Amino acid sequence: MSKTLAEMATDVLSTADGRAKTALSRRYAAEWAAARLAGNAPETGTANPPMHPARPNEPALLNPRDVPRRKPGTPEGRIAILHAVAHIELNAVDLHWDLLARFGHVEMPAGYYDDWVKAADEESKHFNLMADCLEAHGSHYGALPAHAGMWQAAEDTAEDLMGRLAVVPMVLEARGLDVTLGMIKIFKQAKDTQTIEALEVIYGEEVGHVAYGSKWFHFLCGRHNLDPKPVFHTLVRKYFHSTLRPPFNEEKRAEAGIPPDFYWPLTEINDA
Ligand SMILES: [Fe+2]
Ligand SMILES: [Fe+2]
Repeated sequence: MSKTLAEMATDVLSTADGRAKTALSRRYAAEWAAARLAGNAPETGTANPPMHPARPNEPALLNPRDVPRRKPGTPEGRIAILHAVAHIELNAVDLHWDLLARFGHVEMPAGYYDDWVKAADEESKHFNLMADCLEAHGSHYGALPAHAGMWQAAEDTAEDLMGRLAVVPMVLEARGLDVTLGMIKIFKQAKDTQTIEALEVIYGEEVGHVAYGSKWFHFLCGRHNLDPKPVFHTLVRKYFHSTLRPPFNEEKRAEAGIPPDFYWPLTEINDA
């Protein structure tokens, strides 16, 4: 294997089509894991990833205000949910590879790379699962408009690894833990077994991504002799342009290593 991990990451980021992106992502993840097992992992390296990853021409990306809302109790509403989750998952594939491409200059233990390659692989699986569900309902990824601005967190934290870990896995992915059970309930009412099973895979694996975020955020705090909780609050307030919204899935957040005093203070407008 001649490519560095950062170069592989850039290849994934530069692939536009959703299925092609996830196929390449999964191939590189398997190559990385096999090489690590054999004791000859490639260099992690550095790269110049694009500021915006390549994406397919469709879906059209709209301001969240302009994305039409549909009732979750209808088939159209459920397709809209699947489409929104597929979009989040494709974004997550790029977010994890971007982490590997953009911060190659920060030296980290080998387990850090293993974790994020595994997370990127799982996001690729999640996108494929959601795309499969959409296709089973006669739709496809790209058929509906999707939220623009999901890449904002990546842009805002492009030069701050601790900020990236605080906002992406520990806020955005943790939010996924809060909302997925409600989504599963909607598809249980519709007796949609394929989607229920897919969402349960996603729910189970996302705990791991949040945990990786917490683990490596705490690692970096330790490296720089910083107190994690106030640093987390400062970084989220700096880079995340909103307050956090309860209800929180306290059990899964705890499982992922995020205690209540990390997120509850961020539900309030900061006047400190
Ligand atoms: Fe995911
Ligand atoms: Fe994730």
